[in-house]
Amino acid sequence: MVAPGMNVRMWDHPATQSNVQILKERGVTFLGPVSGEMACGEYGPGRMVEPLDVRDATLAFFRTQAQESGPLAGRTCLVTAGPTHEPLDPVRYLANRSSGKQGYALAEALADLGAKVRLISGPTALRAPAGVNASFCETARQMNALVVEAAEATSFDVAICTAAVADWRPASVQDQKIKKAGKDDVPAALELVPNPDILAGLSAPSPFRPRLVIGFAAETEKVEAHARAKLARKGCDWIVANNVGAGSDVMGGPENEVVLMTLETVKSWPRLSKEDVARRLAITVADWFSKPHNS
Ligand code: C5P
Repeated sequence: MVAPGMNVRMWDHPATQSNVQILKERGVTFLGPVSGEMACGEYGPGRMVEPLDVRDATLAFFRTQAQESGPLAGRTCLVTAGPTHEPLDPVRYLANRSSGKQGYALAEALADLGAKVRLISGPTALRAPAGVNASFCETARQMNALVVEAAEATSFDVAICTAAVADWRPASVQDQKIKKAGKDDVPAALELVPNPDILAGLSAPSPFRPRLVIGFAAETEKVEAHARAKLARKGCDWIVANNVGAGSDVMGGPENEVVLMTLETVKSWPRLSKEDVARRLAITVADWFSKPHNS
């Protein structure tokens, strides 16, 4: 895989072009060059593709290879991630502190092990993971619609719901910005209505239920007890519970400290980076599928 960068006339030169042809025939993949401004001040084809695009193309290459031979080869995974934004009017919305980091790290880790990954994400500041089929949405209802459509189109082996979906949304969305009436204005009461529970919907018995459904439980106290209750209430197979209480720096932060709860076992993991939590969970999923009675 090569990402050339050179002056436009050097790139266009017949000698370069014929050598490029030879390399392509030998199976070398070319990333770019693209057209744009060059270091020498000229403009045209010859500019190197952006370094992050080189990184993504490289990751996507190895992830495609892993789809042949990785421990999750042949498996399809659905991941929800990020917060949802629930609009009040054209400029305001209700949201939460989720960054999407844990869900994106999971999508990457599952793809690294060879799974075909479908990521459905609320608004985040993150770059879409390479080699992952990602869709983006804003509200819980939009996320639910994308999840239902994806689940009906693909019988997923695994669904992992990391998204911090808003439980409620404003009962009505104003077409125009809500204005203060005057200095003695009394703020209007905010009426809320419940959003669909995406995890509970995926967990319910249906021809489209993924084989393994995993929820996340962000708690601020009594983590294990609340997680156990959530496992039963949502009908999912595993819960990854974490303490997001004040001072934990988990929501939006780089690390996570989780308890993995299945119907039979409870395991506390040490504090790890979100990438390491993702890798460990992806390996645990692969191990689960490697047992004959689960495959
Ligand atoms: O009920 P609670 O929000 O604590 O549950 C958290 C789990 O449920 C997470 O896995 C989250 O992604 C999922 N969830 C969902 N749809 C909702 C609320 C939560 O998928 N409306």
